[in-house]
Amino acid sequence: MCPQAEMMTVPKFVALKKSGRKIVMLTAYDYTMAAIVDAAGVDGILVGDSLGMVVQGHPNTLPVTMQQMLYHVEMVGRAVSRALLVADMPFLSYQLGPKQAIRNAGLFLKRTRCQAVKLEQGPQQAEVTRALVGAGIPVMAHFGLRPQSIHQLGAYRVVREAEKLIDEALAAQEAGAFAVLLEYVPAEIAREITARLEIPTIGIGAGPYCDGQILVLHDILGLGRVPRHAKAYANLTDVIREAVTKFVQEVREGLFPGPEHSFS
Ligand code: KIV
Repeated sequence: MCPQAEMMTVPKFVALKKSGRKIVMLTAYDYTMAAIVDAAGVDGILVGDSLGMVVQGHPNTLPVTMQQMLYHVEMVGRAVSRALLVADMPFLSYQLGPKQAIRNAGLFLKRTRCQAVKLEQGPQQAEVTRALVGAGIPVMAHFGLRPQSIHQLGAYRVVREAEKLIDEALAAQEAGAFAVLLEYVPAEIAREITARLEIPTIGIGAGPYCDGQILVLHDILGLGRVPRHAKAYANLTDVIREAVTKFVQEVREGLFPGPEHSFS
């Protein structure tokens, strides 16, 4: 908990790389959780399109819409008073080119308290990043496993094309991205990219050498199946199941509500 902490900004976030302090990010999707995550002292909160899977129950992130993302980023924004708030651009909200990307990213900045957007990067997205940055919209560029391309990839798998990853990350930096997110990249490749870039690298399944780490909130809380790259710091599935089972029992046995929960 960090009671007097100031609001994180994009320049302060970038400066953390030079300071050598590891950057910590988590996802959040709603007001209650975001308030807890923010107060616990993370540097950044991503409202990820992973909400398509962990909140909406889809098998992948493709169905998530701009409207839904705006709804969640707005909620999270009301809770965040210190972390950098980053909104994930959902599938088909930027792939049509710079104009579409500026229009949609602009909606996040106009209607919510988010300070930056993240987008999954293919080679053609450097142009989109340049246009967004030109419009004053900070961009976190997402490389390695790109879940929005799941049907091209065939599976969620480690991406090992070192040269391509390094070239693309350098191109994103050159286009003005303020940070790079590396998903499912071998640790040594992430180490090389981190050493070559002036902007911070944030890893998920990318080993210990990145400038920072991000995980999906549900994974660190032990809500659902925990993937190999993540670590559960609690087992909320069991905690919630036990609480609900107890409530069911107490209502059926006439133990709840007691006099202290009733009004005369
Ligand atoms: O949508 C998401 O949660 C992500 C993860 C890589 C953090 O992009």
